[in-house]
Amino acid sequence: MNAFDYRDGVLHAEDVALPAIADAVGTPVHVYSASALRHAARAFSSAMGGLSSARFAFAVKANPNTAVLRLLADCGYGADIVSGGELRRAREAGMAPADIVFSGVGKTDREMADALDAGIGQFNLELEEEGRVLAQLASLRGRRAPAVLRVNPDVDGGSHAKITTGRRESKFGVDITSAADLYDRLARCDGLELHGVALHIGSQISDLAPLEAAYRRIGTLIVELRARGHHITRVDLGGGLGIPYRPEDRMPSLADYAAMVAGLTRGWDVGLTFEPGRIITGLAGILLTRVTWVKPGAIHPLVIVDAAMTDLARPALYNAYHRFAAVTPDGTTMTATLAGPVCETGDLFGVGRSIDRVGRGDLAVFHATGAYGSAMASIYNCRPLSPQVMVDGGAFTIVRDRLSPPEVLSATPAATAP
Ligand code: LLP
Repeated sequence: MNAFDYRDGVLHAEDVALPAIADAVGTPVHVYSASALRHAARAFSSAMGGLSSARFAFAVKANPNTAVLRLLADCGYGADIVSGGELRRAREAGMAPADIVFSGVGKTDREMADALDAGIGQFNLELEEEGRVLAQLASLRGRRAPAVLRVNPDVDGGSHAKITTGRRESKFGVDITSAADLYDRLARCDGLELHGVALHIGSQISDLAPLEAAYRRIGTLIVELRARGHHITRVDLGGGLGIPYRPEDRMPSLADYAAMVAGLTRGWDVGLTFEPGRIITGLAGILLTRVTWVKPGAIHPLVIVDAAMTDLARPALYNAYHRFAAVTPDGTTMTATLAGPVCETGDLFGVGRSIDRVGRGDLAVFHATGAYGSAMASIYNCRPLSPQVMVDGGAFTIVRDRLSPPEVLSATPAATAP
């Protein structure tokens, strides 16, 4: 579905004209569509729903807005978290502790203890020592921590180097060649209830082949672990499916992904967990911005907008493409470089791009910013954190106010040591 479309020449989010949001809230502002979120969440869970006792844990890192999480909880999603902050967010959104999976390569003792006390459903272990510390923390509480071992299958997900996680040299998971021995040792820890394995090979994956190769390797490992006498009841297949950012991008369909997973995992006799992030929220959000200046440039004019890399870091970090469109296009185009106001040469959203013609004061949007958009915001240059708005039909609600740097800093809890 396309929640962001033109009506009478004006870009709308569902039934709300974007200028109405800009007038009420100001710019830049992240705008989400509740219908698009529900649609994406249900499309994913119903495509995978036929698979054996599938569970869905939304990767909170993609969009930790509490209203977004609440909506996903209503669609039957739990949470894949990577920090104590994300644990708090998932709980605030009403996600049941049993539906929370704790991933992440650097969980502190404090974070593990808090997650144990909250009673989360699964820890995804990243190294042997982490498993031993978690076991001790659980034993101290007279408990056994439910856990799986995250394995690094040594498969390249094929996306940008900074978001590929399954190659041997990446920091994630344990080497698949030594995973069975490590599993043997951890399975002997009293405080652990080790019940399976997890993997995640990267994000914005546009081809099923690497996922299939990685899952095959996991299938072989399961056979090996069972031969050693382990009860393997759950496999966490991670997230990773990409979304089309450019009009010409072609992504694997959910039906093809589901068929591949069903075919490969048929004999596994386990429950499957999925940790999708981008595919759930990515296309359900836009960043609404206003053109501050059009400045003559040496090669192309510079369209300087009021959104910056502090609102949408992906172009500066990964050279990522986000389609730019005028809210009230006049039907003509221009070639321009899109820049933010931050005092950093890399604060660009695109160089020499053909875009809708815009001038000073015009409203425009960056599309597909619902995942890893507001989630990666910063207050660099003492910029405020932009507000977030949820549109549902003809109504919109501010689901996070604009926050000034002092407000953000006063809300930051003290850092926790291991
Ligand atoms: N599970 C684990 C263990 C992960 O590391 C990730 C993403 C996910 C699930 C969700 O993956 P997704 O379905 O969203 O692809 N900031 C980058 C993306 C980093 C993703 C890191 N891990 C970006 O803006 O492209």
